[in-house]
Amino acid sequence: MMKKREDDNLTGGVSPDELIGKYGSPLYVYVAEKIAEQYHMMKSALGPEKLRIMYACKALSNINIIRFMKKLGAGLDVVSVEELELGLMAGFQPQDIIFTPSMVGPEDYDFAVEKGVRINVGDLEALEYIGEHHPGQSVCIRLNPHVYAGGNEKISVGHEHSKFGISIFHLRDILRLTKTHSIPVEGLHIHVGSDIQDDEQYLRAIEVLFDHALHFPDIRYLDIGSGFKVPYWRGGSSSNLELLGKFISKKRSWLEEHFQRNIEILTEPGKILVSECGVFLTTVNTIKKGPVGTFAGLNTGFNHFLRPMFYDTEHEMLNLSNPDGRLKEYDLVGYICETDNFAKRRKMPELRPGDTVAFLNAGAYAFNMSSNYNSKPRPAEVLIYKGKDYLIRRRENLDDLLATTVDKGIF
Ligand code: LLP
Repeated sequence: MMKKREDDNLTGGVSPDELIGKYGSPLYVYVAEKIAEQYHMMKSALGPEKLRIMYACKALSNINIIRFMKKLGAGLDVVSVEELELGLMAGFQPQDIIFTPSMVGPEDYDFAVEKGVRINVGDLEALEYIGEHHPGQSVCIRLNPHVYAGGNEKISVGHEHSKFGISIFHLRDILRLTKTHSIPVEGLHIHVGSDIQDDEQYLRAIEVLFDHALHFPDIRYLDIGSGFKVPYWRGGSSSNLELLGKFISKKRSWLEEHFQRNIEILTEPGKILVSECGVFLTTVNTIKKGPVGTFAGLNTGFNHFLRPMFYDTEHEMLNLSNPDGRLKEYDLVGYICETDNFAKRRKMPELRPGDTVAFLNAGAYAFNMSSNYNSKPRPAEVLIYKGKDYLIRRRENLDDLLATTVDKGIF
């Protein structure tokens, strides 16, 4: 039985014990109020007027979360036609959705044009295609500002070796194509990375964005993308939103003065809105003594929680069942038949089989990057809202694993 403690707050006041009892383990739990808190904090820090938050739903795309974002007043950033459809299903107006794909085929642009959403174009080829096949269609252009920023190499996407955006070196080509095909450029965009460690890097990229806006006399909005750092450890640092907000407001005034009209600022955060709302509750399967240390094996693996393996990063974890236990050192590992360390040589209150281990910051890119590797079903997702728990995705089972298989009986 878990002790009642401060960490019940992590699950919106409902005890993790009760949630596991009701829905099983492992379990993703999200707290709606935390999302709202982050949303309002961003709004006030970055300047509430003329700032539009377009939630990057790739971070956590359960339709209930997408609907909650709509309720808060956000727009939506989508990267695929499927996310676009989810957004429409959730009730977003097309103009409140911005489609920011990467390397997709022409049919995806056709679809987005037909649906009437804002289109964010990140390559010259797509720009030309839209000009030729959808005359009069306005676009937002994603620039690659050549700024290296992001929490690690995989999520740093604003440099010249990255596939994303149209290089600022190709500005002349952009101007030529938009002129030749009379493409109205309504917006300009950058997104240089996720979990940006150094605010100065983000400021540099935003400056490049504003400076390039001078070449596009018809723009109505600038989209500063995202990349806001979150504290993956309690007490860890986060982006200085006030600093960014002041800079953006100064640059916006300067641009509005130049164009003599209002310019809307868009941002499309994922992580900062939903990372901290999420807790991943897991259970210790087994404790194994190795020749040089002790392994704590959990009832999950990188199939459910990939970030530590994919980005070589670690999340804070708590032993909820034995918080006052004696500190011991563990390698916390998963059950997948590959190396899947969640944490190396981590000091935790003594772990025992059956104990509940909570991963913090499990809202963003956690469930959404899960898979069925090792033929393991995915966990359930629960949303806590006003102290009540709602099952927003049921746990998968063997039938789900077989659902798309076509057993031909050939053998
Ligand atoms: N806008 C665009 C164009 C993006 O590609 C992304 C994220 C975002 C906005 C939202 O960025 P955020 O606010 O979440 O940093 N799976 C990685 C993060 C990948 C980000 C992909 N693009 C992780 O778990 O760290």
